[in-house]
Amino acid sequence: MDAFRIVGGHPLRGTVKVSGSKNAALPILFSSLLGGNFTLRNVPCLRDVQTTLSLLKQLGVATESLGEKKPSPSKGKHLPAGQGQEWTGLFSISDQGGAEYEAPYDLVRTMRASVLCLGPLLARKRRARVSLPGGCLIGARPIDIHLKSFEKMGARITIHHGYIDAETKGLKGSEIILPYPTVTGTENILMAAVLARGTTTIQNAAKEPEVIDLANFLLARGAKIKGAGTSSITIEGVTDLHDTEYAIMFDRIEAGTFLVGAALLGDRVRIEGVDPSRITSILRVLLNMGAEPIMEGDTITLGAIANPVGTSLRTLPYPGFPTDMQAQILPLMAISKGASSVIETVFENRFTHVMEMNRMGADIEIHGSQAIVRGGSRLEGATVMASDLRASAGLVLAGLVAEGETEIKRVYHIDRGYEAIEKKLESLGARIKRIQEDLP
Ligand code: EPZ
Repeated sequence: MDAFRIVGGHPLRGTVKVSGSKNAALPILFSSLLGGNFTLRNVPCLRDVQTTLSLLKQLGVATESLGEKKPSPSKGKHLPAGQGQEWTGLFSISDQGGAEYEAPYDLVRTMRASVLCLGPLLARKRRARVSLPGGCLIGARPIDIHLKSFEKMGARITIHHGYIDAETKGLKGSEIILPYPTVTGTENILMAAVLARGTTTIQNAAKEPEVIDLANFLLARGAKIKGAGTSSITIEGVTDLHDTEYAIMFDRIEAGTFLVGAALLGDRVRIEGVDPSRITSILRVLLNMGAEPIMEGDTITLGAIANPVGTSLRTLPYPGFPTDMQAQILPLMAISKGASSVIETVFENRFTHVMEMNRMGADIEIHGSQAIVRGGSRLEGATVMASDLRASAGLVLAGLVAEGETEIKRVYHIDRGYEAIEKKLESLGARIKRIQEDLP
């Protein structure tokens, strides 16, 4: 398995371009099961995208990488599937109208977002058999809200032997009230409603930019959707969708991750391809800690905060501070003057990275859903273990600012959601290498 070896303390300078959004690309790719053909641009080269393309292939969707082949920025022998080969980020996607409707355990267990095939399969093939995603390290992550919503729309759902069996005589438009603004739940229902008979409204819908990107993509294919990005979305079912060409939005969590890196060690880092209006909660926290970002169009320039000060935040659904940025802000809080507090309100167990950061010299105490950070720490390099995608990013940032060498094991987690992050950091002057981990 791959690991990262980082020598900390090297300033970051130069320009980095943010890749396409993982959490926008996945639902848009799964929406191909609604039928027809389209072309996608700015698709990020990620393990989760590779997993999605493999699952779509099993479900009868043909995907072809188009455009001039250029060496993937992350070309290297140790890279995960899809990152070693050439990558253009440009794809033609076409549903071949197959009868397949099963998402097998071995794929779903590696990527819980596979449940996003449920809505489009039910809408178009009226049948879906999807392995239950199960929990993951950050929480139980049930999908009860997804399933209850589909039942309301006329699906019959049973669960046997770890699989969801769903079928319908035809989905009908319904009034769906979400008890929680679940992101993939909103996306799943949105996709199901696009081909349902009649009108569906989703109340208490998720407002994340990735939901808006999915809606904009479906609108470009002829769907009838109003209110995406608000807590009330109305969808009028149509009979089919036409072709389109669409560019995936930027990855706001990758942008936030590089902003924290710049706040830690930047000597004028330019982060390109960003819409600042989509990351205001992240910018606000960094401003509170003393950052002085310069916004110019789609570029944010940021240098290291001379005397960072602690702050308090709670993770919330959009437009609140994203839970996916919680691990990344902690190293900056750890070295800041004064205390900080983070309350994690979205997931029940999303502090596993804290123990590893404390082994690097951070002083963070967990009390239930709250992390109390005593600032003023000097982080030291250590050998640490990545536990999930965003925890890995937090440990990379901690390693960059720590004194000495850090080795992060099991970095396959980070390859799920960051396109060639070590190459991008290296291009900014970081001393980071991908190595083969010595297996026990
Ligand atoms: C999406 O996950 C993202 N994944 C997550 O990003 C992100 O952390 C999360 O939204 C919150 O922003 C994708 O978009 C592919 P939720 P999702 O449904 O949709 C509870 C990353 O690192 N809930 O909004 O699974 C659930 O338990 C990943 O890129 C139910 O109880 O998150 C959780 O506590 C990690 N029942 C809360 O809602 C349900 O049916 C938020 O979950 C659904 C959710």
